[in-house]
Amino acid sequence: MINLGTNYMGLNLKNPIIVSSCSLTHSPEGVKRCADHGAGAVVLKSLFEEQIAADVSRLIDNSVPVYHTEELEYMKRLGSDTSANDYLKIIEQSKEITDIPVIASLNCVSNKKWTEFSRYLEAAGADAIELNIAFMPKDFDENPEKIEDHICNIVSDVKHYVNIPVAVKLGPYFTSMPRIAKRIRKSGASALVLFNRFYQSDIDIHRMELVSRNKYSHPNEMSNTLRWISILYQRIGCSLVANTGIHNAEGVIKQLLVGAKAVQICSTLYLHGLSQIENILIDLERWMRENEYETIDDFRGKMSQKNVNQPDYFERQQYIRALVGID
Ligand SMILES: Cc1cc2nc3c(=O)[nH]c(=O)nc-3n(C[C@H](O)[C@H](O)[C@H](O)COP(=O)(O)O)c2cc1C
Repeated sequence: MINLGTNYMGLNLKNPIIVSSCSLTHSPEGVKRCADHGAGAVVLKSLFEEQIAADVSRLIDNSVPVYHTEELEYMKRLGSDTSANDYLKIIEQSKEITDIPVIASLNCVSNKKWTEFSRYLEAAGADAIELNIAFMPKDFDENPEKIEDHICNIVSDVKHYVNIPVAVKLGPYFTSMPRIAKRIRKSGASALVLFNRFYQSDIDIHRMELVSRNKYSHPNEMSNTLRWISILYQRIGCSLVANTGIHNAEGVIKQLLVGAKAVQICSTLYLHGLSQIENILIDLERWMRENEYETIDDFRGKMSQKNVNQPDYFERQQYIRALVGID
């Protein structure tokens, strides 16, 4: 009897497929569709801290909004005009009509007053919070340690207000991935989502315009995630979740083999429809049966750096020294 269950930062998932934060999870109906197609959990579309700031005064202390209206206009142009209050209703209703974990997602760059809003997410019934900390360093003199401090302060501030687990969705660009991973864990995060995929900017050389291309990922984008989950597995004391470029069961199996607790998928669902979740689960189960695994724990981490006989394979870019001193 095959059991696809997995425990992700204390949440019991019936299988390791999480629909990552995107427009497919922007409404209770969307969440229900994901659940009906077999998702183990969903991460709601992100609420931006600027959106919270617009409502925070009313929700928290009736003071004047701390952000400028231009920022809110910008959010609306991006098509993200859900108010913080609407977001709470999406959580409540999603929990009412499904029985899978619902993870709220906050897109943030600062630890301003908005962090207190996290407790409303918990009160509305969110099972966990995912922080999408997309901080873009622009200051040529900024010390990387300060950037790390800033990220960790956001995590500890949010954690101060909630008891539910907090995950951090990180981008792939850090001077030392092991160090930032360890520091985020120490700041109170229960999980790391590796990696966020940033907006792909490009130039149309005929129209001489800036454009966005490659909205969806390609399966060959997942090797960086594979590398870092493999290296960090059982070394930083928190759950690791794989994201970016996972399009099919083969991708899922690889990420579980290097140590992921679960995977987050998005592009493949836009490209092939939500039935791709069912296809992945069928293929995953078939592979487990063929290889005589009854549970995911039977093979999780088998190909992680600490368990393979060529451990330096995953370090082919001088990362080994950065790992010294990490338990
Ligand atoms: C249309 C679309 C909307 C997205 N919106 C969000 C979002 O609100 N918050 C977030 O953290 N990630 C967002 N993402 C990123 C995805 O959650 C995911 O991290 C990324 O697409 C990489 O996974 P994939 O390779 O499976 O697509 C979005 C992606 C797409 C394609």
